[in-house]
Amino acid sequence: MKFWIGVIIVVVLFAGGTIWRAQSGRTNVVSVTVPVLSSSAKAGEALFSQSCAVCHGTNAAGSRRGPSLILQIYQPGHHSDAAFLSAMQLGVRRHHWRFGNMPRRPEIDEQGKKDIITYVRELQRANGIL
Ligand code: HEC
Repeated sequence: MKFWIGVIIVVVLFAGGTIWRAQSGRTNVVSVTVPVLSSSAKAGEALFSQSCAVCHGTNAAGSRRGPSLILQIYQPGHHSDAAFLSAMQLGVRRHHWRFGNMPRRPEIDEQGKKDIITYVRELQRANGIL
């Protein structure tokens, strides 16, 4: 009996640890295929590398500091372009992950924000996030 209780505890801890690691982002880097980008998306790519990649990773693949944006939860039906604009304008309070808050990005102008969104959407489409 004690043995089985021990086994159950180990299994629960292991499952909990796996879920926690996925949520905490350590296993969050995804592999991203980069398509031929439109000119707006290319401009967005340059800005993304400067202002976003430090947390969201190269090509938005994710990093230890922030989630990938090439995930189903960030497709347009879940996180619209308005949500992307708001994230850049106002920042984001931690809610989906355990990375912490996202600071707002006041350095990016209106056209730059549109280009970044175009870039992320083109990456999403090329990777089956529709
Ligand atoms: C300092 C790290 C950091 C930087 C820099 C950063 N982000 Fe984020 N971002 C985060 C984190 C962390 C989250 C996840 C917050 C959560 O849901 O827990 C996030 C979430 C988001 C979201 C989802 C918003 C929502 O409503 O859930 C979008 C969109 C986003 N970031 C876009 C960007 C873009 C575009 C840039 C560059 C202009 C950028 N981020 C720069 C850390 C960062």
